[in-house]
Amino acid sequence: MSEAKLSPATLVVKAGRPEPGVDAPPNPPIVLASAYGAGGMEYGRYENPTWAAFETALGTLEGGRALVFSSGSSAVATVLDLLEPGATVVAPRHAYHGTLHQLADLQRTGRVKETRLVDIADTTAVNAALTGAHLLWAESPTNPALEVADLPALCRAAKAEGVTTVVDNTFATPVLQRPFEFGADVIVHSGSKYLAGHSDVIIGAVVVQDDERYDQLLARRKSIGAIAGPFETYLTLRGMRTLGIRIERASANAMTLATRLNEHPAIERVRYPGLPSDPGHGRAKAQMSGAYGGIIAAEVRGGAEAAERLVKSTQVWMYATSLGGIESTMERRRRWAGESATIPEGLVRLNVGIEDVDDLWQDLDQALRA
Ligand SMILES: Cc1ncc(COP(=O)(O)O)c(C=O)c1O
Repeated sequence: MSEAKLSPATLVVKAGRPEPGVDAPPNPPIVLASAYGAGGMEYGRYENPTWAAFETALGTLEGGRALVFSSGSSAVATVLDLLEPGATVVAPRHAYHGTLHQLADLQRTGRVKETRLVDIADTTAVNAALTGAHLLWAESPTNPALEVADLPALCRAAKAEGVTTVVDNTFATPVLQRPFEFGADVIVHSGSKYLAGHSDVIIGAVVVQDDERYDQLLARRKSIGAIAGPFETYLTLRGMRTLGIRIERASANAMTLATRLNEHPAIERVRYPGLPSDPGHGRAKAQMSGAYGGIIAAEVRGGAEAAERLVKSTQVWMYATSLGGIESTMERRRRWAGESATIPEGLVRLNVGIEDVDDLWQDLDQALRA
């Protein structure tokens, strides 16, 4: 059976394994090397067989060629480093704030001439902003507002304008959403989240289909040295093997919790693309593969103070940043000075893990009542 016919749930288990054979191990070795015997890979900053295994797995899943990086942020930085000086970038006003800070830094130094921040769910507004732009940065769902972009429409519009489209696919993962199928040019990941899945690694990746772009990114990774450790890469590949069932369980738990939170008197508003009442549901249903991920944005009645009380009143849920791990965590996003001022003060981002959903609910409910 050809790989093209296999579903993501199978590919995530199968891709990037060593060649089968007598005495072949099922997993790639962790190759710790700063140099190799001369004439081939040469140097540890250039190539590593453990990276290659991870890159094959992620590339197969996304349908392109992957490059691993030291973090999601260095993956973002390397993609932005492909911009010619004086570029105009269109980006979601509610993208991951670290990405927006990188764009602001590039603008301060003149590398980026203009960053047009848009509501990425407002396709008309994004289309209008694309005129004369060079790069469209998209996230869907967005972090932390959970807005859903119309990815096929945006990719089409960008292509017509000659604008390169980057999709940060961290929240959905290739198991739920495959941006190349909509016409995206570049995919980035914070692998620290769902790909690794156990809150023990910082890692990132870029995936492209175009060979020239691949060579440009590879050349920058080699020269800048934003490389992942072989052990971290191994952990990420090991974590990825269970991505299918982790995201399935986290999505099912999130669906139940979002439905209950939506009716809770202590909650003002819930954003979760799986809720039929969510403004992004129709799009998410069309462009995600039947599940909606494990992240919920819930606005707590009573603003910052009530939200702070909530995140500090749970026992099963951990009060922590980040997401995509198997353990449920949450935080009030505006506790970060760098978070966008248009994110409500009382917005709590919940990362729903794989625990028993009723235990999660009881803990949340008692904290909300308190
Ligand atoms: C959507 C998104 N992209 C990129 C990043 C940056 O990734 P990293 O923390 O691995 O550098 C994050 C981190 O939170 C993120 O949520």
